[in-house]
Amino acid sequence: MNIARSNPLRGDLTVPGDKSISHRSIMLGSLARGTTTVTGFLQGADCLSSIACFRQMGIEIENDQNTVKIHGKGLHGLSRPTDTLDTGNSGTTTRLMSGILAAQPFDCTINGDASIQSRPMNRIITPLSMMGAHIQSVNNNGCAPLHIIGGPLKGIAYTSPVASAQVKSAVLLAGLYAQGETSVTEPFLSRDHTERMLRACGADITCQGTTARIHPARELYACDIHIPGDISSAAYFIAAGLIVPGSEIRLHHVGINPTRDGILKVCRDMGADIVLDNEKELGSEPAADIIVRSSKLHGTTIGGSIIPTLIDELPIIAILACFAEGTTVIKDAQELKVKESNRIDIMVENLKAMGADITATEDGMIIHGGRPLHGAAIATHRDHRVAMSFAVAGLASDGVTRLDHGGCVDISYPGFFEDLKKLAR
Ligand code: S3P
Repeated sequence: MNIARSNPLRGDLTVPGDKSISHRSIMLGSLARGTTTVTGFLQGADCLSSIACFRQMGIEIENDQNTVKIHGKGLHGLSRPTDTLDTGNSGTTTRLMSGILAAQPFDCTINGDASIQSRPMNRIITPLSMMGAHIQSVNNNGCAPLHIIGGPLKGIAYTSPVASAQVKSAVLLAGLYAQGETSVTEPFLSRDHTERMLRACGADITCQGTTARIHPARELYACDIHIPGDISSAAYFIAAGLIVPGSEIRLHHVGINPTRDGILKVCRDMGADIVLDNEKELGSEPAADIIVRSSKLHGTTIGGSIIPTLIDELPIIAILACFAEGTTVIKDAQELKVKESNRIDIMVENLKAMGADITATEDGMIIHGGRPLHGAAIATHRDHRVAMSFAVAGLASDGVTRLDHGGCVDISYPGFFEDLKKLAR
């Protein structure tokens, strides 16, 4: 995939549905009794992995692209899969589903692609084992494949060392089946889509500060779910609109959950012209149109409690920082090393190839912005967010930016390049 300097980006766009909420709609829809109708579902490869896994456990899921209907069989309605559950590239499917599987009256194996097989799973194995689960990393390396022998669980009060919605959600989902109360406290609040959706389905869940508490459920109830656009996908168009001169873009109906909106805060802090319009609550999630105009940016410092609210946007923020005057420091973001790829090393390596002044640190990066970037051969490591970030960088750089694997954007944003082209006409 080759990217060249772009005309101004102008017009309207509706980005695909939120990936995190799409996964959760399949999982909770499968565990609820009755039919859950989902609109705005993300038809990305990761979410299709969640659909495939729950189908393998006997759940009928109709997917006609516009609407997904999940015919849930209740909390105890899953059946033992006859094959390994394939979670593809999806950390969310792997970790959240493990919490559910830990409580089922059957055993099974889950596995994913090469990236999944190198991502840390002890972070869920530890608390789920404290609840009484039997989970084994088949190769004894703390990664997938995982063999899970489900059974009765007991509630725990878990203090997580990482602010991770995947860890929190795995424990809360297991808590649906556990004896007594289960609570999770995290160092900073991570995305709370699981808590919101569980509450909407009738679970007994309360949240206070960085602690979420759940009591076992007798039954979850199916409800209709309207999924807003994914702010993590909108982020590429926000960034492109900011750095391609003369741009003005309206992004329709994007999720602006406060546990996800760090990108908006950081952009504004860098001097971005961003306006929200048509703010509304849709189901249990807030959404708005985002209007972005190209802006003169300056550097900033990003760290602490804002990190979980923009963790997936740090690659595109690194690009923005290269187009901002002055220094940007990203710290407290060591989690970037264990995402779909090592996003600190890979962003730094590729941005250096484009001429940026950027240094990797133990927990982030330091970027001295304002140097013009030039096209280069980009090694995406098949990481969708790396690919989309460099596609955006290429729009505002000299020469040609070549992505070695543009197809990986299908993980979270099928049609990404087409949408980019539409706005550049
Ligand atoms: C996700 C949580 C985040 C995020 C991932 C999706 C989720 O991971 O990076 O893309 O849907 O819960 P962690 O919770 O592990 O930080």
